[in-house]
Order: sequence, then C-alpha cells, then structure tokens
Amino acid sequence: MRIVLGVGGGIAAYKVASLLRLFTEAGHNVTVIPTEASTRFVGVATWEALSGNPVSNSVFDDVPQVNHVRLGHEAALIVVAPATADLLARAATGQANDLLTNTLLMARGPVLFAPAMHTEMWQHAATQANVETLRGRGITVLEPASGRLTGADSGPGRLPDPDVIFDAAMALTQGRLPLTGRTVTITAGGTREPLDPVRFLGNRSSGKQGVALAVAARNAGASVRLLAAHMDVPAPPGVELVEVETALQLREAALTAAADSDVVIMAAAVADFRPADVSDTKIKKRDDTADPVITLVRNPDILQELVQLRDQTGGRQLIVGFAAETGDANGDVLHYAAEKLTRKGCDLLVVNHVGRDQVFGKDHNSVVILARANSEPQSASGSKQDVAAAITDRISFELSHVLPRA
Ligand code: CTP
Repeated sequence: MRIVLGVGGGIAAYKVASLLRLFTEAGHNVTVIPTEASTRFVGVATWEALSGNPVSNSVFDDVPQVNHVRLGHEAALIVVAPATADLLARAATGQANDLLTNTLLMARGPVLFAPAMHTEMWQHAATQANVETLRGRGITVLEPASGRLTGADSGPGRLPDPDVIFDAAMALTQGRLPLTGRTVTITAGGTREPLDPVRFLGNRSSGKQGVALAVAARNAGASVRLLAAHMDVPAPPGVELVEVETALQLREAALTAAADSDVVIMAAAVADFRPADVSDTKIKKRDDTADPVITLVRNPDILQELVQLRDQTGGRQLIVGFAAETGDANGDVLHYAAEKLTRKGCDLLVVNHVGRDQVFGKDHNSVVILARANSEPQSASGSKQDVAAAITDRISFELSHVLPRA
C-alpha cells in the first residue's frame, strides 16, 4: 500500500523513524513529507534512507510531476506524526503553504493525525477546536499519550507509541483497501523436475517478483495464497503458503486454489518439460555404459488449463500470466506478447523483455502489462515491489471496472 508519512516539527519526530520502519517492514511503500521545521529535528537523509524513496518538502521540487496531486491521489493512507499544534491548525483551516498541507488537501484515502505537544498547547481551546473540526471531517486524530514531556513537565501530549499509531493506521484502511474481500492466488518461484532422488532439472527463477506480488496483494487487503515452487527468498508473513516442487504438483495446487479465487496470478516459472522416467534410486555413473540420454515429456500448460476451466464453468475470475519475450526479425516483443496473450487466453499478460536486461534474481524489473481487450500497453518499471504495486493496481482496476463482482 502506498502511504504518505507527514512529519511535523516537534522533538518527537525522531520516534517517527520507528513508525516508518514498521510500515516498510510490513511491505508498504512510504513517501515521507517532512515539514521545513521538522528537518531541524530529523534530517531528510534519514527519511530517504529508511523509506528508500526520495524526500521533498516543497511544491516547487519536481514541478512536472505535480507532486502534491500525485502523492495525495496515490496514497491509500496519510499519517501525520508528530502532528504539532501548528500542523493541526493549518490542516483544520485548509491552508496549503507547503507540500504536506497541499497533499492533505488532495487526499482521497483515510488520514490519521498523531499529535504531540505540551499539555497546555494540546488543551488550548484553539487546538481543541481544530481537532474537533478535523474529526468532524472524518479525519482520525488520536489522543496523545500521557507522561513525561520534553521539559520537566508531564501530562497528556506525548506522541502515542509507534505500535499504537501503526495499529490505528492499519485499522483505518481495513475494508477500504481495493482488494478487501478478494482471494488472490499467486504462483511463484521455479519448479524442479526430478531425475532421481538427488538430481533435478530446474530454472533460475528466484521467486522475488511472486513474493513482491503476494505482499502487494496482501497490503491491498486481499486474502493471499502463495503457491511456492523453489524460491531464493522467504515467503512473506500474512499469506497462506502451499509449497510445491514439480509442475504437476503446482498444477494440482493451482486448480484447487483457483476454485474459490477471484484472481490467479501465474508468476511461477513452470518447466515446460519433465524427465519421462524418474529413478527411485540415485543414477550411478558407470564408466562402462554409453552416455546417458534424458528423455523429456511435456508438462501441462497450467495457465491455459486455468483459463479453460474458468470458461467452461462460467467463472468470473481474473487470470494473469507472465511472459518472457525477445523480439526478432519477424516481430518485436509486443507482437509476440500479443500473440501469447491470445493463445493463452488470460486477461492480463505481464511481459518481460529478456535479452536486453536479464530479470532472474535481480531486484529491479521492467514490464509491459497487456490486456485482452486490446487496450493500450501499460509500462511499469522500478524495484520488483514497484512493479508488483503497479500490477496490483491494474488488477484492482480490472476487477472494479471490467469484471465487477457478480
Ligand atoms: N506456464 C504455465 N504452465 C507451463 C508453462 C508456463 O502455466 N507449463 C505459465 C507461466 O507461469 C507464465 C506463462 O505461462 O505465466 C509463461 O508462459 P511461457 O513459458 O512464456 O510461454 P510458453 O507457452 O512456454 O511459450 P514460449 O514458446 O515462449 O516458451
């Protein structure tokens, strides 16, 4: 989920670094917008390093991107911590004098303020009126915690614990996320086709893109089933994990999981062939026999079967395939990808241009998303998390506009 984290100019700004960690460790994509005053407490470099995203606090940075419009529209959630008396006042009166307040005026999703200030400032009639105004507009303003404040004083005014802010933020997005109530099955990793008890034919898929998709779908509110063939990365928390080894096992698991899924994403690298015979015992190296020959037989095309099954049963599932393509003298990557989309019959095809830039095991990816209805190809690139977010956004769009709930 894309989150904007606004940081106000109070000493408690340093505690927000822990809050940012909670968001990023849960797999969220966070853009930090510090106010000018807050950078006297915590520098921009800290926010950039911890979020992994560039940080700005001026509407005049990166003007062609119109940052406040983009950030406000894209954010599924805006959290402001510490919300100072000044920030609460500016938000309540609709001021737009820096990037954060501009972004707040553009917000489409829920907004949460976590206040921190001296007790007298919190209890002042002006601050209380501003809090009431904000709450009246459906904005969540947490109560500050009580305890020792910056000076010798103590009372209500402490920033609530990062855990408390995190839980409140997550609760706010429940039921409002685009994939809430949807079940998404994702296959990931590379299948391994055994030759004997110790050897197999495998491929170089790391499972990173599939895992990034599982995190993105989970964070978009979906119940996620991850059907994992061999992966170099661990499965994320909060998803149902089914581990498989071979293409046939993956087929079995995918057909079962698909029965009650709204979306199936075939991100796994499935072996097209498997050894015809699997030896029960280790194949010995005998010097006196001829060079061994491995006979391969075709594996079923799981993606195609899922599409056929859905069409035969009149299902309304969204099925997403992946393709690694190269162009040649007879056609470019998009030409071959469009052919594959038609052949496989899936609704969306995520196309990697291989050859130009190998994708296996890398942390970055660049894809084109093709849709069955001949719509404009959509490009997405960046980290595998960025690409996963773009694919998840597209799936949410297709589910609500093209395949609305029956
Ligand atoms: N796939 C599948 N079952 C297979 C092979 C692939 O479900 N036995 C799925 C992959 O998970 C992926 C898509 O099909 O979503 C990739 O197809 P790809 O292997 O690129 O296509 P092929 O039909 O094998 O075409 P090519 O001739 O390009 O190899």
